[in-house]
Amino acid sequence: MDQHRDGAEPMAQETQPHLQPPPSWSEIPMDLAVLVLGLLPAYADRIRFAAVCPQWRTAARQPLPPPLPLLALPDGTFYSHPYSKLFHFPGCGFAEYKSICGSWLVFPRDDGCFLVNPFSRATVTLPALSRVRLRPPNAVAKWAEEGGEKIAPPYVTWLHINESKMLHISKLILCSPNLVAALVGIGDTSQILMCQPGALSWSVRAYDRCKGFEDMAFYQGKLYAIADDENLLVVNISEDHRTGDPQISRIGQVIKGDPWYPYPMDDNTIPCKKIYLVESRGALLMVRRAIWCRFVQPGVSGEVVAGQSEFEVFEADFEHSRWVKVSTVGGDQVLFLGRRCSRAMSVSQYNELSGDRIVFLDDDEQNRVDYLYDVEYSSCSAYDIRSGTVRSCHPKMSWKRCKEMDLAAWLFPQDG
Ligand SMILES: *[C@@H]1O[C@H](CO)[C@@H](O)[C@H](O)[C@H]1NC(C)=O
Ligand SMILES: *[C@@H]1O[C@H](CO)[C@@H](O)[C@H](O)[C@H]1NC(C)=O
Repeated sequence: MDQHRDGAEPMAQETQPHLQPPPSWSEIPMDLAVLVLGLLPAYADRIRFAAVCPQWRTAARQPLPPPLPLLALPDGTFYSHPYSKLFHFPGCGFAEYKSICGSWLVFPRDDGCFLVNPFSRATVTLPALSRVRLRPPNAVAKWAEEGGEKIAPPYVTWLHINESKMLHISKLILCSPNLVAALVGIGDTSQILMCQPGALSWSVRAYDRCKGFEDMAFYQGKLYAIADDENLLVVNISEDHRTGDPQISRIGQVIKGDPWYPYPMDDNTIPCKKIYLVESRGALLMVRRAIWCRFVQPGVSGEVVAGQSEFEVFEADFEHSRWVKVSTVGGDQVLFLGRRCSRAMSVSQYNELSGDRIVFLDDDEQNRVDYLYDVEYSSCSAYDIRSGTVRSCHPKMSWKRCKEMDLAAWLFPQDG
């Protein structure tokens, strides 16, 4: 206090009690509130902050660095990473999603495929998976016969799986307001379908071979897909002249992979493989995950039990058409990796979080069993890229494994 600013004031204050209430927290300048809010990594904290007063709610609407994703479980429960306490959206009805795309939960139903954004409550309606337009429209499946049974020769196309009750979406991407692409299939084989939101049907190329697609990404305006052969494919999309609906015009290979395939080792282990595509700092990354499994009965191939995960990261070098192995993704970057949805995030503004890490889940396909588990509970883990070590994210953030619960996924609060 400047005692000499006004000679009369100190005297007056001494003789009179304070009439002014202490300044309210809601009166802190807006830019300061935004600054504080931007330092809170957990979505749950941002919500609590915004609930304090109207001024702070306004602050929460300003552009802010994205908070960490929520961990979503298919029973409709959520964790606000890095907290181990369950997070509840007001209202309910988010259980049994089948996929996640950014901030959208995906519910494929008989009367349509619905996307719901639990943050904004927005919805998008896509055609049901039973409504698929073949290209060419008059395509017919060719079948061979073996012992009186119809079999698919020499490879499976959409026409061989299109009537299966087991069709599931393993990946869905909202590429733009007019373009949605999805990997749809049975077991570990799938096909690329696309549509426009609100359209009556999906579009598929009837005679293309179904593949063991592992992931798909929309990167710099183009759609890319990858299978376990690690070849990066670019999907060329055109418009149906009649309806304006998107369709695949061509699929080309832009990078030739140099993959390895699961092979039993002398020590009774076998590495199972998963491939993820994720954009980080402007580059397209392929993450190769090896899940070290051991045979239940030594010397006998058959059931295997999952163990530790190991990761290798490669950057797409489009100019030389190759994957280039990298030893770091950057000291500020964390890759949140998931079968359904992966994103890279900068965590440099969050003091307590270290970068160059991969945060991952045991996210196995429901109808694709590569290995079993010998522990009852699942949780999320973090892989330190520099040291190659894995640790559990939070011992209390865990859920009981069961067939349906392996589909845990990341849900990103700020994602278009
Ligand atoms: C599956 O493809 C066949 C063509 O082989 C077609 O006749 C049939 O209507 C398709 N079924 C569905 C559900 O799209
Ligand atoms: C898609 O294919 C067409 C015709 O082959 C070609 O003219 C166009 O450049 C391609 N587009 C992309 C994005 O590759």
